[in-house]
Amino acid sequence: MTTDSKFLRTFEGEVFASPPIWFMRQAGRYLPEYRELRARAGSFLDLCFNPELASEVTLQPVRRFDLDAAILFADILLIPHALGQKLSFVENEGPRLEPPVSMKDLDGFRERDVVESLSAVFETVSKTRAGLAPDKALIGFAGAPWTVATYMLAGGPMKDPGVLRQRLYEEPEFIDGLMDILTEKTIAYLLAQIDAGADAVQLFDTWAGGLPWPVLDRVSVRPLDRISKAIKSARPNVPVILFPKGVGEKALDYVLLQGCDGFGIDYAMDPGWARANLAERVVVQGGLDPLLTIPGGKDMEEAASTYLRLFHDVPYIFNLGHGFTPKTPPEHVLGLVNFIRRNG
Ligand code: CP3
Repeated sequence: MTTDSKFLRTFEGEVFASPPIWFMRQAGRYLPEYRELRARAGSFLDLCFNPELASEVTLQPVRRFDLDAAILFADILLIPHALGQKLSFVENEGPRLEPPVSMKDLDGFRERDVVESLSAVFETVSKTRAGLAPDKALIGFAGAPWTVATYMLAGGPMKDPGVLRQRLYEEPEFIDGLMDILTEKTIAYLLAQIDAGADAVQLFDTWAGGLPWPVLDRVSVRPLDRISKAIKSARPNVPVILFPKGVGEKALDYVLLQGCDGFGIDYAMDPGWARANLAERVVVQGGLDPLLTIPGGKDMEEAASTYLRLFHDVPYIFNLGHGFTPKTPPEHVLGLVNFIRRNG
């Protein structure tokens, strides 16, 4: 089935003179229209659970920059929230999950129906899909089990990765049990997003980098293998994009997975290496350092043209190597999009 969507056609092997574009964290605080709706919603969580406003926020950057894909407005920490851990976002500090998870919580977590608790998210998906033109794709997402687990175990952003690394060895039963639960719940959550109208899904493994060998395989590659395989077998036409940040040449282990259709490269990865080693197997996405969009201008354009040049003859999706921060001026994003459309 051929679609009008440049983003989806890239996964069918099509190469465009100017590649499809979307950006991680394309909806967020750098946009004044986001800040306004966010203030109206009250808290960040209220915004995530309000389908009307969340869908509007999802559409804002697509409208402003005429992007090729929207990404559902939600957060990777809605899963721990649905499992019963108390989630809050503290101004200027980030997320807090209370109390930190422990072994005694696991049985309760297994019983929880995340699809039922997160029904507002699926409503946002269907509302957004209805509000999008047919040539724009809608991307659903979840956090990868390891990245979500780091927040659940630390009760927020991990301060010392060594502490969690130690627990991987000292409490293998607990950690592997938690990973198993998160894997199962994430599969159900993503399938429900697809059924509500998501055209593709992305898994964010922000904290995969720095994991010791061979623990990376245990807590990142294998859970993502299970999730992507389950989605592929249930919904074979829905592209699955993996974004394990900071894994370097271990990217090879992910792109060989049966269920992996796309791979997001981070800003540290050598795009020449990615072109030579990844692009023949999957659709490569991203790479540009989001911090280059703060000064913008020539340096940003030069870096963007490196990715355009290297990937001009293979299916490629333009994106960043991690999300925008609130400091990016929206005019620089418009400049970047225009540059890609002119020079692709
Ligand atoms: O536009 C989009 O990208 C869609 C929505 C989206 C958000 N978070 C909204 C958000 C997505 C895909 C995420 C993913 C996410 N959330 C990740 C993985 C990607 C990455 O950035 O590494 C992680 C680790 C989280 C957890 C999280 N959420 C943190 C650590 C924070 C606080 C730090 C920060 O940037 O403020 C959040 C909050 C959050 N999630 C905001 C947004 C727009 C800012 C909240 C606000 O408006 O106050």
